[in-house]
Amino acid sequence: MAFLYFATSLIWLERNVNESQWVCPFVLEGLGRSETLAVDDFTSTSQYRRCQEIFARWYPGFLNAGEQFRDIVADLVTPEALLLDLGCGRTSLAAEPIQRAKRSVGVDLSLADLQQNHALNDVILADGEALPFADNSFDLIVSQWTVEHFEHPGLVFAQIARVLRPGGSCVLFTTNAHNYVPLLSRLLSGQSQSGLIARLLQRPSHESFPTYYRANTAAQIGSICRDTGLCPKATVYVGNPFYLAFSPFLFCCALVFEKFTDTPPFTCLKLYLLTVLTKPAD
Ligand SMILES: C[S@@+](CC[C@H](N)C(=O)[O-])C[C@H]1O[C@@H](n2cnc3c(N)ncnc32)[C@H](O)[C@@H]1O
Repeated sequence: MAFLYFATSLIWLERNVNESQWVCPFVLEGLGRSETLAVDDFTSTSQYRRCQEIFARWYPGFLNAGEQFRDIVADLVTPEALLLDLGCGRTSLAAEPIQRAKRSVGVDLSLADLQQNHALNDVILADGEALPFADNSFDLIVSQWTVEHFEHPGLVFAQIARVLRPGGSCVLFTTNAHNYVPLLSRLLSGQSQSGLIARLLQRPSHESFPTYYRANTAAQIGSICRDTGLCPKATVYVGNPFYLAFSPFLFCCALVFEKFTDTPPFTCLKLYLLTVLTKPAD
């Protein structure tokens, strides 16, 4: 029954979403009246705030994935570090610790995004599959929300292994392909990427890049690491029920899912995957 409700919800949204407006009938369920919301306004609605309050009661002191990513980077960065942000886009949730590095460099395929990135010392238009740097150039590589967009992740990981100095680390923050959000995203892929999925993922349409999910599970990452000489050192799964906050009913389901996946072996179903890789010292 719940699945049917969920599926029809998504089909309805798929048909009714357009670039400028987020028209959501399930918000009506909670508010009891007709309402049309611009997507950027949704997180400031009373319904969204109510979801945040409930979540805070269930998970007091919770650090979201972005905060945990920032803390991992903060632990690894040193004042002497040369740091690469791979697929840097416009900014990073770890911008503050990144700026503590001696020098930070970003690469990305999007010139428009690079031009708007003011968090890094240097930005370079380059493909992660062919990084324009000498071997062993960086002490630390970070990459946020990029791995699912790599068409050939094996080539990118090989470049990471090449430009990282022996003993250096790489921190990947990405979505976990085993979670329901990317599963739905893939189910509804194609024309949906700039519409419904951008809304579901609450990301602006300019960030809706093609997705492949070819290195988005711990097993896939482990396998590519074995091929490229990198070592997975730590894996952390972090949940997020807020993609379903547009419906009180679905948000409750999402909360139950979070509780269910708090216990191993089900933690590997949570939405985000934070992975620390190292390049073995010579
Ligand atoms: C979802 S955006 C994330 C941007 C930024 N890291 C952030 O979190 O806001 C994905 C980024 O990865 C970049 N990207 C995808 N494939 C790439 C590749 N092979 N080499 C370099 N950048 C790539 C895209 O251009 C895009 O800017």
